[in-house]
Amino acid sequence: MENKNAELVEKILKLKKEKNAVFLVHNYQRGEVQDIADHIGDSLGLSQSAAETDADVIVFCGVHFMAETAAIICPDKTVLLPDINSGCPMADMITAEQLRQRKKELPGATVVCYVNSTAEVKAESDICCTSANALKVVESLDAGEILFVPDQYLGHYVSSRTGREMHYWPGYCPTHVSITSDDILKRKKEHPQAKALVHPECRPEVIDLADEVLSTGGMIRYARESSTREMIIGTEFGIIHRLEKENPGKKFYAVSQKAICPNMKRITLEKVLWALEDMKHQITVPEDIRLKAKSAVDRMLEIV
Ligand code: 13P
Ligand code: SF4
Repeated sequence: MENKNAELVEKILKLKKEKNAVFLVHNYQRGEVQDIADHIGDSLGLSQSAAETDADVIVFCGVHFMAETAAIICPDKTVLLPDINSGCPMADMITAEQLRQRKKELPGATVVCYVNSTAEVKAESDICCTSANALKVVESLDAGEILFVPDQYLGHYVSSRTGREMHYWPGYCPTHVSITSDDILKRKKEHPQAKALVHPECRPEVIDLADEVLSTGGMIRYARESSTREMIIGTEFGIIHRLEKENPGKKFYAVSQKAICPNMKRITLEKVLWALEDMKHQITVPEDIRLKAKSAVDRMLEIV
């Protein structure tokens, strides 16, 4: 396996150089894919890396909405998603048409859309947010009604911390809702010294048991900067690879064996190689949608 990976990586790096490509890799990717990253991070960090890169080709190792966000920000670059079926079920829980209908019922409401959404939904929104900046984004808004889409749990968390009442869309992340309060209690009992870090996509009763509520980038920073030596990780399992690699000597316990995002795991080294060989799958956004979606993304990037 090691040798096979080494051969693959050599081929990938050669092609990467020839094509002037950059690898943007999400914290939930397979360990071997994380290990070839130029930039590894959360949704916010990766969209900032996309905005700053001078590469010609962005190979996005993440899910579809992340590659699409890069295409929204960088229309002059070729954005490749190594597996076209690597989607985010939560992003598909609301369509632009459904959002237009809801906006008619709530005229005047400011629409905040989680970045885990399609370009068409972003185009119908006033401002975007990620799990790293959702509190800041909502705090930046003037008083008035807010419609938060599509993640009801992130919306609920933001509302509880900002005191802003919001209308929610009933979307959710299947991976994060699989984490239960019993999972946290069980791990806390097994590791009483450990701090529980959970992602704000988790259910409210799970968030109530957490010591820290953080985006994946926030978890990486917390693990590095805090003096805590043991952590229970309440998010997708893939992040443990990076946490362990960057923090030898600290201990990380996955909250549950169920917290796996199958879409994130679709991307393999082979598929990264094929993506560069065949220049596939190119992610593009029609220009009228792109411009509208970009204004929601830019508005977010201005305040972080
Ligand atoms: P982050 O922005 O925290 O990396 O989260 C992305 C995501 O898809 C969480 O499920
Ligand atoms: Fe979507 Fe959840 Fe997977 Fe994140 S972990 S990409 S929100 S399904």
